[in-house]
Amino acid sequence: MPHTTILGIESSCDDTSAAVIRDGNLLSNVIASQKVHEAFGGVVPELASRAHQQNIIPVVDQALKQAGITKEELSAVAFTRGPGLMGSLMVGTSFAKGFARSLQIPLVEVNHLQGHILAHFVNVEGEEHQNPNFPFLCLLVSGGNSQIVLVRSYKEMEIIGQTIDDAAGEAFDKCAKVMGLPYPGGPVVDRLAKQGNPKAFKFSKPHIPEYNYSFSGLKTSFLYRLRDEIAINPDFIEQNKEDLCASLQATVIDILMDKLRKASKALGVKEVALAGGVSANSGLRAAFEDHAKRYGWKIHIPKFSYTTDNAAMIAITGYYKYQDGQFASMDVTPYSRVVL
Ligand code: KG4
Repeated sequence: MPHTTILGIESSCDDTSAAVIRDGNLLSNVIASQKVHEAFGGVVPELASRAHQQNIIPVVDQALKQAGITKEELSAVAFTRGPGLMGSLMVGTSFAKGFARSLQIPLVEVNHLQGHILAHFVNVEGEEHQNPNFPFLCLLVSGGNSQIVLVRSYKEMEIIGQTIDDAAGEAFDKCAKVMGLPYPGGPVVDRLAKQGNPKAFKFSKPHIPEYNYSFSGLKTSFLYRLRDEIAINPDFIEQNKEDLCASLQATVIDILMDKLRKASKALGVKEVALAGGVSANSGLRAAFEDHAKRYGWKIHIPKFSYTTDNAAMIAITGYYKYQDGQFASMDVTPYSRVVL
């Protein structure tokens, strides 16, 4: 049997990444993160697309070299079509098109969110790994999304719940900003929360129907509490930073897990996966472990290297689409917003 070798390209936000997957096994996954945004407290779209332009060729070159293959051995080029920043997506899309055309091989478009979910199917030779069994639920939580997805197969995914306003990562980042913490705030809150009391402060939780989420109320309740406390004691944040972070994190996790538990119970699905940038959160990971013990869930927690944007997840999704013969045409264009 000839090999199926897929080059994956990811450029949806501020990470330029290329990966090679051969027959479902990861051979390389190279990521160039952009430091240029740190000074601005958030990703600056124009700077992101310029940095992608600079990074894309060296990153692809390195991915091929690390995989120990030549470009002629590739079966197809898979790329992130969206959602993401338009200028950033255009760089990856244009490169993928040009590369596939020059090699006369198929082009495969990948939905970034599907990629995050299918990252659970990336195998590395010699490493112990268990793919999730279908159907499973996936909690997809990042800076732009908070969704519960019912995954029936590699290509059949249904969003059964999602945020009606802010994403969980945004709640972490915005509350961190109010406390004067650097961007992105999520990892900093996670670190400080380890030294704090999660029950020290109470913040509001949403009451919305179904399996949907809302985080804007929490953000407002956090902001108002700080404003009121600072009026009495100007050093309030500094003196309570750890407790504030621990309480904020515990509230976000409670909100996320309540709906996930409800969905698991109602649908009778006990295989549950975690994906997206916020899946790096240590408290959320611990909550998954706890649910596995308490409710008999079989859980899938991603490796840290797959919590941030990466091309391994694009290459594996491309691999399954390639096997299905789902190719993109050469006039394909990126999209900034999308549902699964
Ligand atoms: O998926 P991702 O890399 O990209 C976006 O969708 O933007 O997710 C980034 C988000 C940011 O909001 C960041 O603060 C959050 O993930 N994040 C975390 C942690 N690590 C990253 N949030 C909480 N705890 C963490 N350890």
